[in-house]
Order: sequence, then C-alpha cells, then structure tokens
Amino acid sequence: MLKRILSLLLFVSLSLPFAAKADEGMWLPMLIKRLNHTDMQKQGLQLTAEEIYSVNNSSLKDAIVQFGGFCTGEFISSEGLLLTNHHCGYSSIQSHSTTEHDYLTDGFWAMAKEKELPNPELFVDILVRMDDVTGQVLEGISNTTSEQERAQKTAQRMQAIAREASNNGQYVSYVRDFFNGNEFYLFVYERFSDVRLVGAPPSSIGKFGGDTDNWMWPRHTGDFSLFRVYMSPDGKPADYSPNNVPYKPKHHLPVSISGKEQSDFAMVFGFPGRTKRFMTSHGLKLEVNQLNKSRIKLREKKLGLWKEEMDKDPATRIKYASKYASTANYYKYSIGQNEGIERMKTMEGKIADEAKFQTWVTADAQRKAQYGDVLNQIGNANNQIEKYNLGTVYLNEAVLGTEVLLLAYRMTPLYNVLKLSNAEAAKKAAEDLESTVESHFKNYYAPADKKVFAALMKYYSEDIPKEQQPDAFKSMVKKYNGNFEKLADYVFNNSFLVSEEKTEAFLQNPALKKLENDPAFQIVNSIIDNYRSNIAPSLAEANAKLAQANRLYVAALRQMNPDKVYYPDANSTMRLSYGTVQGYSPQDGVRYNYYTTLEGIMDKADSTNEEFIVPDKLQQLYRTKNYGRYANEKGELVVNFITNNDITGGNSGSPVINGRGELIGVAFDGNWEAMTGDLVYDPDYKRCINMDSRYLLFIIDKFAGATNLINEMTIVDNGNPDAGDAASAAIPNVTSDLLEAAIEEAKAELKEGESKVKVKKKEGKKSVKLEIRN
Ligand code: ARG
Repeated sequence: MLKRILSLLLFVSLSLPFAAKADEGMWLPMLIKRLNHTDMQKQGLQLTAEEIYSVNNSSLKDAIVQFGGFCTGEFISSEGLLLTNHHCGYSSIQSHSTTEHDYLTDGFWAMAKEKELPNPELFVDILVRMDDVTGQVLEGISNTTSEQERAQKTAQRMQAIAREASNNGQYVSYVRDFFNGNEFYLFVYERFSDVRLVGAPPSSIGKFGGDTDNWMWPRHTGDFSLFRVYMSPDGKPADYSPNNVPYKPKHHLPVSISGKEQSDFAMVFGFPGRTKRFMTSHGLKLEVNQLNKSRIKLREKKLGLWKEEMDKDPATRIKYASKYASTANYYKYSIGQNEGIERMKTMEGKIADEAKFQTWVTADAQRKAQYGDVLNQIGNANNQIEKYNLGTVYLNEAVLGTEVLLLAYRMTPLYNVLKLSNAEAAKKAAEDLESTVESHFKNYYAPADKKVFAALMKYYSEDIPKEQQPDAFKSMVKKYNGNFEKLADYVFNNSFLVSEEKTEAFLQNPALKKLENDPAFQIVNSIIDNYRSNIAPSLAEANAKLAQANRLYVAALRQMNPDKVYYPDANSTMRLSYGTVQGYSPQDGVRYNYYTTLEGIMDKADSTNEEFIVPDKLQQLYRTKNYGRYANEKGELVVNFITNNDITGGNSGSPVINGRGELIGVAFDGNWEAMTGDLVYDPDYKRCINMDSRYLLFIIDKFAGATNLINEMTIVDNGNPDAGDAASAAIPNVTSDLLEAAIEEAKAELKEGESKVKVKKKEGKKSVKLEIRN
C-alpha cells in the first residue's frame, strides 16, 4: 500500500500514558491562562495560552465561529472554508434540495467556488473579544440592595455596555450572566451573512445510523458539511453578493492525518448551548415529570404523523426532513435523560449534595443568616412554577409546535399594528412577514399539519388544567363535542393561514377583521392572551424568586469549596473543554474501544433500512481498501472516535484539536450512558463522539473527488506538512498533471517487496521530485 508520498519524517513520540483524568468543565478561553494551562500541559498540550486565546495576535480562537447561532464551525483553509456537522448544515442542504436535485440523498459538492450555494438565512459570528464586566454591572449593588433594584440596574447596565461595544452597529455584542447572576461577561462579534454551501456527503454517510444510532456509541457517522464564508472586497461583513470574496481568517486549523491513541490530549473549542449543572433536586423534579415526559408524549405523536406523510411522498419527505430530524433529536434526548436519571440515581445524588450543603450552612451563624433559607426558597419557587409549568411546556411543544398555529402566532406584530389602524405601519409589518411566510410554506404540507393539529390540541385540552385554558378555546372544543378531527376540519377549511396564496393575499392587503376572524389566529391568540394575563405573572414572580435563590446558592457553593475551580454553566458563549481520547465501560464486563472503522459500517449495512444504506461508491472503496494516506497504521479506516471532553448541544461541529493545535476530529454527539450530562458530569460515562479527520478527508478526496478542497487545506502528519501539500506549497508552479504523472511513474516503478522509490520529473522550468515509501 502506498502510505507516504515524498520524503516524510516519521516522529514516533514516546509519551508516557497519563492517568485517565476525566475532564469536566466548559472553560472561558480568556481565563485558560490563569485557571487551566498548567493542567492542560500535564495532559499533553504543547501550545502556550496565548496561542489558544489572544486578543491582539492570531490564535486558535480566530478559527472558531458560532454557526447560525445554534452550532459551531471552524476554518480549515486560508480561503474561509468552514467545517461543521452535517446535522448543522442540514436545513441549508435541505433548502437547496428538490426531487430533481436531492442533495440530502445524493450529497452536494461544489467543484469550483462559482458553484457554491448561498444561504440567505445563515450567518456566522466571529469573536472579536470578550471581557469581564462584572465590576461595571454590579457597581454599587450589595447584599442589601433590593432584588427589584438589582434586576433593574443589572439589566440596564448589561444593555448599555453591549450598546457601547457594538460601535454603532458595527459589531454584534451582548453581555451574558454567569454563575447564576454572580458574574458578567461582554462578547463582541463580527457577523458574516454570506455563507455558502460547499459540500455535503449523502445522508447515507452524513446521517448514517439515523435516529437509531443518534446519541449512541459505537457510532459510524460522517457527520460533516462544508461551507465558505465570504466578505466584501474591502474585507467587511456583507450580505450575499456575487462580488464578495472568500473571507481570510486570522487563523485556520491544520488538518491532521496522524493516528491517535488512548489518553492522547484532545480539546474541543465551541459554543455549548445550555447546561444546568447547578440545578437542585427541586428543579430536577420538574425536568423529569413535566418537561421530559410531556416532550416525549407530544413529540412521539407528531413524529409518527409526520412520518406517515413523509413515507407517502418524496416531496413531503424533503419538506419535513429537517423539522423531523430536529424534533426527533431532543425527543430521544428526553427519553435518554429520564432513563439516565433513574439509572444513575441523579435525584438521590442531588438530595445528598443538598443535605451536605445545608449542614455546612447551618454550622456557622453568619452563613446560616445569609444562606440558611436558600434551598427552602428554591423549593418553594419550584412548587409555584410546577403549577403552571405544564402550560409553558404545552405552549411551546403543542401550540407553537403545530405549524399553522406557529404561523398564526407570527402574525402578532402585524395584529398589534392593525389594532392601531396605522396604514403605514401595517404595510411595513406585513412586509416584514414576507420572508417568514415564504419559508414557512416552502416546507409546509397542510394535510400533515392538520393531523398534528387535531392530535396535539386534544392533548392540550386534556392535560392542561381547565382553569388555565382560555374560554374561547374551551367553547370551540365544546362546539365540536370534543371531536378534534371535526375541530381540525373547521380550522383547516376556514383559516387562510393554511394556504400560501391566501396568506400572501392577506399580506398584500392586511385587514384587522380578517385576522381576528381567522380560526387558527383565534386559537393561538386566545391561548397566548390567557397565558400572558393568567399564567405569566405568577410564573414571573416565582422565577424572580428562583433566580435570586439560585444566585445565592451558587455563591455559597463556591464559598463552601474554596479550592475547587468552578466553571460556569454553558450559555451559548465560546468555551474550551480539554481532556483525552478515552474508551469506556458501559456496563460491568463490557469495554468500548475508543474508535470505530469502515469495517463497522459494513457490519451495520442494510440496504432495506433507509438509516443503514451504504452508498455503492463507499462499498467499492472498502472492497479495494482504497484508503490512501488516510488509513491508520493497521490499515484500517477510522470513522469515529471518543474523548472525555465536556460538551453539549451547540458544540455540534466543534473542532477536536490535539496538543499541537491541529484538527483531529469534529465533535457531533454525546453518548447514551451520559444523557444526564447536562445536569451532572459523570467522569466514568461522559463521552464526546467525534468524526475522525482522516474519514473527513477520505470522504472529500476518495469518495467525492473534491480535490479542489483538499488542495486548499493544510494537511499535516505528526506536525509536518504532508506530501501533496508540501509539494504544492514548496513548488507553487508545479502543475498537478506533472505531479500526477510523477506519482504514477513512481507507483509503476515500486516493485513488490521494495521499500521506496524516488522519481524526478521535469517539464520546462517546473520540476517534481518525490519519494514514495511502501
Ligand atoms: N444528537 C446530535 C446532537 O444533538 C444530533 C444528531 C443529529 N442526527 C440525527 N440522526 N438526528 O448534536
């Protein structure tokens, strides 16, 4: 097998294995130097803290972006090529798909920049800087400041600081609170909105294993897609324009093709969305019994009904693909989390921790005065929330989880202006809705939604306490004798919001009466109105009490454990997690290896099951073992691997980076045994599931033949620029034909049993010299 092209020095690094130290924590990059750097070095990091995060010089952080506000992406070329997950790019891939060009099924590869596809709804945020602004936000606020005054002042100051930092709209900036309102940080970003789709594998690679394998290890998914960020010719963020040029990142990640081993250092840089690690047993109760249980019940129904329609018609399948996947993702998450909470005795653990806390508080008179009642207050606030919580969950999952009602809800700003009978403002409000309406109907199939409507409204009517339901809704239900199919007939026969044509006609000429008389709007409006007047005030009061008590609880915990370095809960801000490549033991007597291979894809292959189809081309590459330089030292093609990095949703697409700052993988999931991970980090089970960088390159190169993309990356092996890359970098004039010819000649000359061969080729002034080793 041809393994290395050109003279390549192989460094065998002899490092002693470190004790498997599990690595909890999503750290703020600006604090790495102070809090983590020494520890990271012990585990194998070779970079300085400044090489990771620096405001003035280019550093790793410059290669990481927040993708679309919901995922992470990273630059892997100097020409703005951006890597993220397939499931992060999914809705963009879907938006370009039709039954004629089904990029979801077949994949998409732009073989030249002109072929890349713009995505008007997508943007990426690139961090300019972050600052600790706690002092400014809390200035003059003390323990004796009233809660109301504190809330008002902090909110005002957070806004003012962000506004100032935005420099008149040049930057996107905000202040977020950390440690439950104990600390505050400012984030300043540049937002780029010309982000084009460059490449995506077919779903049979990018989503291999589907919902069956989702949240599971062992895994075999090529969960990646490629985009490119563009800027104006003068280097500024700009909306899509054919005149825009590729963004030049201050840093891009070299892509490593070296092998990895158990206990190798690994860090993950990205934008984790939300964790609730400081949640008490009281909050957990609501999470299990109300949020998760309802979500499971409502989503299961909706998914089943959607699936029926998707299976009937390919056009519906494409329309609902993205909605289905994202609904299914947190449906399964909720199932796994509730199972995990039972199995891991999470509730019992929280209760025990709280008892310890209470003992510590009570042991000292001053502490007792300050924190003695905190847990009690948290309990009381949660009891109050519990009464109304289902209303909130059903509002999100059932009411706004029904497409026609969601669209009706989106008419609210227009409704508010129409009530003022200001024609000018109404026209503007109607115009503002155009794109929402367009994208809504692009992926809408009314007969599917009608079934969902009937089912979910039935649940709403049955499960929400009657006194929390609006009268208008109750009388509608009564009118149809509790027959929700009949109610659905009525709504879908009479609402203009189920038809694109009628909705657009309404926007052309919006009239208050027409909206008020629309049955879908009536339902949503009555539910929201009722929620605002009868439910929200009690909830707001309880939430304010809870926020106050949580703030004190976290402050007290940090006081209780002065030697522990705490990290804040995830809140969609940039974080770094570090740890090592690690397998795990899911149950007694079973050990999971830290990586999977193409072999395992073939084992799972099932042409009769949509989730486990293996594309012919991939099978062919498998049969011929055509893995090139992407094979490991055993000749296997590694597909996925796991690390003990601490990540959560929002980290999807995050780079996994080795001790030298090279990309070794892309994070895309968590594992079933650690579905409680957002509530408690368990070092024995918590793993981060990643796609191997070699599988990434293999798919782009061997499967898709998109060598244009391979050529713009910086590919490294054990820290050294690799063959092809070094050749084109060192001899920029060399034509690839010449190089190809040299490779072919060398291959032909390399006889069985020979270890290496050297070839020189010349054509005019251009020359290639290469060495191939067996
Ligand atoms: N569980 C993954 C995450 O939350 C998403 C995986 C998407 N794939 C799927 N089969 N639904 O990041």
